[in-house]
Amino acid sequence: MIIAIDGFSACGKSTLAKNLASKIGYGYIDTGAMYRCCTLIMISNGLSIFQELELKKQILQSKIDFKSINGENVTFLNNKNVEKEIRSVEVNRWVSEIAALSMVRKLMVEKQREMAKEGNYILDGRDIGTVVFPDAPLKLFVTASHEIRVERRWNELQQKGMEVDKTEIAKNLKKRDFIDSNREDSPLRQADDAILLDNSEMTREEQLDWVTERFKKVNA
Ligand code: DC
Repeated sequence: MIIAIDGFSACGKSTLAKNLASKIGYGYIDTGAMYRCCTLIMISNGLSIFQELELKKQILQSKIDFKSINGENVTFLNNKNVEKEIRSVEVNRWVSEIAALSMVRKLMVEKQREMAKEGNYILDGRDIGTVVFPDAPLKLFVTASHEIRVERRWNELQQKGMEVDKTEIAKNLKKRDFIDSNREDSPLRQADDAILLDNSEMTREEQLDWVTERFKKVNA
């Protein structure tokens, strides 16, 4: 069974998805991390957003996968742990533009379907319920207020030892929301059959209880 969790950046989708995956024993695929890896591939090869053919070649030659290390989901690019690099300011600056390229989306969607084809998986992203797995029996669309999302992203970066100005974060989130929601290919939107979760006022535990209840109903 597939559980699709979509929503805006920094609204706690990944935390919720990871917590639920470990509670119910499902695999977890962080599809945002895959677009972040593509962005890192562009940056580290000195490419620009306009060099699509070269970027495609480099992506096809790269290996993106996930491993669980001490209970943490870690992203690997060509067998190197890139968990920190893919969350950098530089990657944040470009990732929405890379994720808007149809060539990149096609490659990543194929990979996501392949990764999740056997077994039970939770995928979080922007287009899981609308494009990648439109038949998923449980779909959530997560949102939270802009202020709360800025605060959460700031905390996340602080914990990773990165000092970033809150105004910068706010600007970056607004820009990414705009690009993610207005791109031509698979724009971010709530699937008709997705359940809306506004978690602005909810703790992590409350969210986990809420989603576990929904999961039990679907699975009953
Ligand atoms: O969830 P995140 O912030 O790590 O996602 C990084 C970027 O990737 C974000 O700007 C939107 C894009 N993305 C996407 O277009 N489709 C997905 N399924 C997941 C992420």
